[in-house]
Amino acid sequence: MGLMDGAPMFHWHFDTFQIHWRSSVNYNFPRGFVTFTIDKDGKTDQPLVMLTAYTMRMAQLLDPHCEMLLVGDSLGQVIYGLPSTVPVTMEMMCAHGAAVVRGSWHALVAVDMPFGSYEGSPEQAFASASRIMKETGCAAVKLEGGEAMASTIDFLTHRGIPVIGHVGLTPQAVNVLGGYGARGKNADEAKKIIGDAQAVAEAGAFCIVVEGVMEQIADQVADVVKVPIIGIGASPRCDGQVLVTEDMLGLFERTPRFVKRYADMASEIGEAVGRYADEVRNRTFPTEEQTYRPKE
Ligand code: KIV
Repeated sequence: MGLMDGAPMFHWHFDTFQIHWRSSVNYNFPRGFVTFTIDKDGKTDQPLVMLTAYTMRMAQLLDPHCEMLLVGDSLGQVIYGLPSTVPVTMEMMCAHGAAVVRGSWHALVAVDMPFGSYEGSPEQAFASASRIMKETGCAAVKLEGGEAMASTIDFLTHRGIPVIGHVGLTPQAVNVLGGYGARGKNADEAKKIIGDAQAVAEAGAFCIVVEGVMEQIADQVADVVKVPIIGIGASPRCDGQVLVTEDMLGLFERTPRFVKRYADMASEIGEAVGRYADEVRNRTFPTEEQTYRPKE
């Protein structure tokens, strides 16, 4: 393991900011680096592509196409069938985070900090974030919250933990938000979202996910906040976009309005499994091609 392993390297070049990252988990194949340049206004040279991944194989498939892979706590619903992200544990995030790092060689892997693992104090957040980084080999953590989390983000970033912020609709707060509806529908909410994003950026987050907000508000955030803004249910003017991979692949019957389905994997799986079941039942699988026989 080299000296540079295990952390992204942040380079200031006059007015640009570059992130190179290399996994701390050393495997037998060379790992590349993703590099993106962020100018002094927080803009990237091209839109950043981020998708969620929870498993090694999915990470392998997504990695060549993405600057960042997010091990989102949405795995609570997608993988574990939980009703929300609230019950997601550190153990779940660490296990899936490590799997995704093992399946990626180029994209920056960020892991979500689960609900209850960081809100208590900056020290609690540091203990959780450092555990996630040690156990997974990821490059960064993501945490939800605006102004209230600014001192925690400052604490983490001054102690070697790269942080991605997350404002707007913050699903871990579903029990106080009262649902998953879009945010920023009135002037007070809009002001709060913009203030939250600014506070998180000023505290040191190197990019911010803005989720489920009115397009106009997302545009204002992208204009005024000086780090890359990654939208989900936000605006095409964001500096990048993220989706839950299973949603965009059409693995669920229902998807939120902001998801575009790029495939219909649920139908393809249903069709393939149906054919397999038929062939097992009518004994046309396995054939001699799939069975071991003594060589003649
Ligand atoms: O948990 C998650 O997958 C996320 C993305 C939707 C941004 O936070």
